[in-house]
Amino acid sequence: AGSTGGATIDTGFTPVAPNKADAVTVPEGYSSDVVIRWGDPVLPGAPEFDFENQTAAAQAMQYGYNCDLAVMFPMDDRDGRYLLTVNHEYTTEPTMFRGYDSANPTREQVEIAWAAHGLTVVELATRSSDGGLDPVMGSYNRRITATTPFELRGPAVGPLTRTTADPTGTRVLGTLNNCAGGHTPWGTVLSGEENFNQYFGTSGSVTDTERRAQLSRYGISVSPSGRLWERFDDRFDLAKEPNEVNRFGYVVEVDPWEPDSTPVKHSAMGRFKHEGASIHVTANGTVVAYSGDDERFDYLYKFVSSRRIVPGNTRAARAQNMRILDEGTLYVATFSGNSPAAEIDGSGTLPSDGAFDGSGTWIPLMTVNADGKAVSHVEGMTPEQVAVHTRMAGDRVGATKMDRPEDVEPSPTTGKVYMALTNNSQRGGSGRAAADEANPRHNNKHGQVVEITDDHAGTTFGWNLLLVCGDPAAADSYFGGFDKSKVSPISCPDNVAFDPAGGLWVSTDGNALGFNDGLYSVATEGPNRGETKLFLTVPIGAETCGPLVFNDRAIVNVQHPGEMDGASIENPASHWPDGGDSQPRPSTVVAWRDGFSGGTGSLGSGS
Ligand code: FEO
Ligand code: CA
Ligand code: CA
Ligand code: CA
Repeated sequence: AGSTGGATIDTGFTPVAPNKADAVTVPEGYSSDVVIRWGDPVLPGAPEFDFENQTAAAQAMQYGYNCDLAVMFPMDDRDGRYLLTVNHEYTTEPTMFRGYDSANPTREQVEIAWAAHGLTVVELATRSSDGGLDPVMGSYNRRITATTPFELRGPAVGPLTRTTADPTGTRVLGTLNNCAGGHTPWGTVLSGEENFNQYFGTSGSVTDTERRAQLSRYGISVSPSGRLWERFDDRFDLAKEPNEVNRFGYVVEVDPWEPDSTPVKHSAMGRFKHEGASIHVTANGTVVAYSGDDERFDYLYKFVSSRRIVPGNTRAARAQNMRILDEGTLYVATFSGNSPAAEIDGSGTLPSDGAFDGSGTWIPLMTVNADGKAVSHVEGMTPEQVAVHTRMAGDRVGATKMDRPEDVEPSPTTGKVYMALTNNSQRGGSGRAAADEANPRHNNKHGQVVEITDDHAGTTFGWNLLLVCGDPAAADSYFGGFDKSKVSPISCPDNVAFDPAGGLWVSTDGNALGFNDGLYSVATEGPNRGETKLFLTVPIGAETCGPLVFNDRAIVNVQHPGEMDGASIENPASHWPDGGDSQPRPSTVVAWRDGFSGGTGSLGSGS
């Protein structure tokens, strides 16, 4: 598993200039190349990608759309080989299918989209000529799609998760909108089901008031969905199958070393728009998982397990360890500032103590005991309700409304926890929460990065804002106290990753400064604390996902290249990566230091 220690990318590189190029750019002395693209073969027998003649059967054996999370494990037995696991967050039909009619999708188009969701596991080999990585048709290769069986575990299972097709409430087909995630110390991959709301709809009606409120709290509207999947499978119809939607919104766990294993959904970790999940193990072996709920004014959670890691890298050990996230306590965070409220006016001006900082408390929501029995800590809610309607549990206990919690990642060297809050255009708006010290700007366009010093297994923490992102020349940006004339501009932090030496890397989604998104090194310790350096930029319309930085290399997933207002197949905004007049294809990219000398090394802490 990715672990601490070992070489990394030297942060002495000369930063890339912010740009709007339709290309991946890296610093002088580095090179990059595509590893694998949407549609490339993953399973034996998969045909080569054919944009004009796609089929669901082919897509189910090919790399999916919109790669997001990346996790890489070294394959110890073969030097320079890695096992890559990637999420395919969502599909963008208008840029996938020529002549797509959004009012009348065809069954084949819908089934292609189902097959383009989920995850891919694929072996990679280091090229002999440079630091590039090439996919290998290996025995671990696997596609997980929107129709692959999953086991749903924990307190959610019961009357709220039973459906016509699954009276047990435990066997769910597929995973949807898998965004960020992480690796576990026991060799598996965690992945967050994020904006699952968009897949459910109906042309029928839902009259029950309580149920309408529950759907509304998760952004699920009682109307036809954008993709109209409910026309092709009743389970996506809110009126026909009311409980199917309760089976999405979880942290899923995949054992990439067992291609025939059934992946798991862990309801003890709650149901919300999980950006991902990242693990910290305390000195006494307690496993803690952090997860953000990516919505304006939603919450940060952690799960503290009561089970310990079973040693060993066998199927049996991993199966035991895949129970760690089934037993323990789920908490939600409250943040308090230490400066007078009058000094937090929504402008982003630093308070007189010179820091946006304070303390916090973790409020328990639910505990699952060793016998599998769950206890609710929220008055008026059963454990089953807490597990399924977790956001409403957070509301009841007064959790702090944050500016869209994206990726959260504990440092492998200091244990401090870093969270990206990407932006919140509605902060301070009419009827919405005003600024507080952790979310200090109204109409927050650029986001912030929070540094948390957590008593990991306990219930208290300290926090401060490491970065208040935006134009370094503007009064409302803050770069950890570092000289703002010497930083790379950064906006809309999304993914957070650590290299094996403990260096922090942050990637962005939706840069509101007018430049393409990118991957930045961010100094957290020493005299350069707060310094941001742009290492890599992605093509027009793309988001920089899944960063992994290790051993003179970086891996990024270039998600949704060419996704721009007004872009279409007839009028593409990007021709990356194939060039010419080709359609853009979401792809995984590797960058390496020229003269890369090979070797597996350790992988850092992926997001
Ligand atoms: Fe899928 Fe919150 O980014
Ligand atoms: Ca303060
Ligand atoms: Ca994300
Ligand atoms: Ca995002």
